[in-house]
Amino acid sequence: MSRYVLITPNGDFERLVRLAIAGMHGSLQVFQSNHLPDGPGDVLRQMVGEPPEVLILGPGISVDGSLKLASVVDLQYPEISVILAAPSTPETVLQAMRAGVRDLLDPGADPDTIRVMLERASLAAAGRRRGLAPQASEHMDKSAPGRVIAVMSPKGGVGKTTVATNLAVGLGKAAPMSVVIVDLDLQFGDVASGLLLEPEFTITDAVIGAASQDSMVLKTYLTVHPAGIYALCAPRSP
Ligand SMILES: Nc1ncnc2c1ncn2[C@@H]1O[C@H](COP(=O)(O)OP(=O)(O)OP(=O)(O)O)[C@@H](O)[C@H]1O
Ligand SMILES: [Mg+2]
Repeated sequence: MSRYVLITPNGDFERLVRLAIAGMHGSLQVFQSNHLPDGPGDVLRQMVGEPPEVLILGPGISVDGSLKLASVVDLQYPEISVILAAPSTPETVLQAMRAGVRDLLDPGADPDTIRVMLERASLAAAGRRRGLAPQASEHMDKSAPGRVIAVMSPKGGVGKTTVATNLAVGLGKAAPMSVVIVDLDLQFGDVASGLLLEPEFTITDAVIGAASQDSMVLKTYLTVHPAGIYALCAPRSP
């Protein structure tokens, strides 16, 4: 489950973020304030449980202050993705980039746009966490190698998609963000429709170009499902 933190005095924006997160596998903690904490430690101390993956700053708080806080987060907690919700001027974009802000969000964006951005930010956070803990992941690789479960049948319409999608969601409950469902029905694969996904990238993108050589690039082509699993869907047309 992804953990999101929002600092803003703006109730309308808070509602948009809540709507965006409603369909996702995540929790939101809101600090309704137009004052920024002195440092990320002040926010983390007020939280119960694990530190957040994504920190959303604004609107309604000083952009300069947000950028300062973002720089400190970037240094002290590089595994947290920061999203700045402020009107994007060329100047802000440049400053945000220098401060290590992951993304700039238009405060008037619709919940779907916000959801896509949040998913992307938590993916980046997950990637960074793994990158920052190389020994842990090496150890994991040795003790528990990835496992492939193939769901197949020579006959059509027998329930392959139903079994595979339910299996993936079920496994995702036991191991959130560690399951990938790959639709290898290249002509009429319907995993995307079964899981109500509208993939930005499909297996066609994954087998050509950089993704076929680099697993990190490949990962950016996966679609995140609210149940905490990834999907690599079949092409949109045969
Ligand atoms: N265990 C089940 N009990 C009853 N109906 C089922 C079961 N599994 C699947 N179905 C139904 O059977 C139909 C076909 O299922 P599904 O699409 O999963 O099959 P498929 O093997 O993926 O088909 P295709 O070969 O067309 O891709 C669907 O209407 C589905 O709801
Ligand atoms: Mg099918």
